[in-house]
Amino acid sequence: MADLRLVELSASTIVAVNNLSLKPGQEQFLAPVSYGIAATVMDPQTSWQRVVLDGDEVVGFVSANFDPEAHEEHFRSVLWRINVDADDQGRGVGRFALGQLLEEARSRGMDHVDVIYEPGVGGPEAFFLRAGFEPVGETEYGETVARVRV
Ligand SMILES: CC(C)(COP(=O)(O)OP(=O)(O)OC[C@H]1O[C@@H](n2cnc3c(N)ncnc32)[C@H](O)[C@@H]1OP(=O)(O)O)[C@@H](O)C(=O)NCCC(=O)NCCS
Repeated sequence: MADLRLVELSASTIVAVNNLSLKPGQEQFLAPVSYGIAATVMDPQTSWQRVVLDGDEVVGFVSANFDPEAHEEHFRSVLWRINVDADDQGRGVGRFALGQLLEEARSRGMDHVDVIYEPGVGGPEAFFLRAGFEPVGETEYGETVARVRV
């Protein structure tokens, strides 16, 4: 497979990142309500985002927030968004990006990473459970909060 690596978001990748495609039915799972609300109070110092390249091609995007001071516990070490281009799903890109994110969390002294997602057919739950996340709660909007130890 694939020559996968992570790079920082830059002028040369941002357009491709914005154009990452989704499979039909995935749109509704991309940004749970809680994320939008948290984003309004997000500190650029604590956010981490990377583009996934396969060779020179942009195939995914992953972002997180690491802020031990965050008011809400599940925003202290949180996978914010992971998105693999529709044509590149199912060949390990998401697993690679998540592995790198967990490594980043470890290097920042975090002992876990949380994720918030909407359960449902076509959503990312199976991916997160396969990666070792376990549901630990629910937001007030009915989204699942899941956690993996790092
Ligand atoms: C969720 C997502 C990131 C997964 O990325 P991916 O590159 O397709 O996943 P991978 O190929 O790395 O799969 C890793 C494992 O998860 C499993 N998996 C991934 N998606 C799955 C699904 N929908 N159902 C069941 N298993 C799934 C794979 O079978 C694989 O299992 P294995 O370890 O036994 O081989 C991708 O489907 C995506 O971008 N979805 C749309 C955006 C989204 O919903 N993001 C999450 C909310 S921000």
